[in-house]
Amino acid sequence: MDQDGAGAADGIVHRARRVLPAGTFGNFPGEVVIRAGRGGRVWDETGKEYVDFLLGSGPMLVGHAHPEVTAAAQARIAEGTTFFANNRWGIELAEEIVRAVACAEQVRFVSSGSEADLYAMRAARAFRKRDKILKFEGGYHGMSDYSLMSLAPRQPGNFPRPIPDSAGIPRAVRDDVLVAPFNDLDSVAGLVRAHRDELAAVIVEPLQRIIPPRPGFLAGLRRITAENGVLLIFDEVVTGFRLAYGGARNITVSFPICARWAR
Ligand SMILES: Cc1ncc(COP(=O)(O)O)c(C=O)c1O
Repeated sequence: MDQDGAGAADGIVHRARRVLPAGTFGNFPGEVVIRAGRGGRVWDETGKEYVDFLLGSGPMLVGHAHPEVTAAAQARIAEGTTFFANNRWGIELAEEIVRAVACAEQVRFVSSGSEADLYAMRAARAFRKRDKILKFEGGYHGMSDYSLMSLAPRQPGNFPRPIPDSAGIPRAVRDDVLVAPFNDLDSVAGLVRAHRDELAAVIVEPLQRIIPPRPGFLAGLRRITAENGVLLIFDEVVTGFRLAYGGARNITVSFPICARWAR
């Protein structure tokens, strides 16, 4: 990198600090400013090359600037960008998702995983006419008030009471969230039975961050929730179409991969 390159890169870090909270878009340090990516590699403003383990925090499944994806996006964008109305491509995508995901009957498109989880929990509460949601400590379901509970609590193990992960969440929301330890079926069973008349749903990441489900855990959740008339929400924002085409659900029904993960 030459002197000019270093100066320009340094300048953009300072500009970011002025206009972005903590100088960063999100969780990644603002000192690295990416200019371009191709496949599994990215380059920063100074020209330094990285192997990209972030991959956009998930969505870049086939890497950056894949020629087929780029060509398809360019072709579509030339026809208009967003219509707030049904369109052929969205309908065809919904058809493909329903084909691929064994339990999917219909698709609602939203802009983010946070919204998807928020709407799923709201739909469960509306359908069951109950207010409480059970989640797992360490499970991430986006940035809504209901989701930001006991993701990374300072005092872990405060079951079943949730600890908010952010200021600004109304106290009343805590009363409607129960927290259980991941992979502990007995604890979940006890909580679900004790709260069955007020519990709308259990929400779970089939692979919680990097923690694989113990063999039998997900099947046990399915059984316990079904027996008690509580809905089960699989949050596949990360796992859908990444662990398997059609989602983690497609591999967890037969469990061979979960068994291998757990060793
Ligand atoms: C399992 C899970 N659910 C929900 C979300 C929230 O998605 P988004 O960042 O699109 O709001 C994430 C984001 O990483 C996630 O990993």
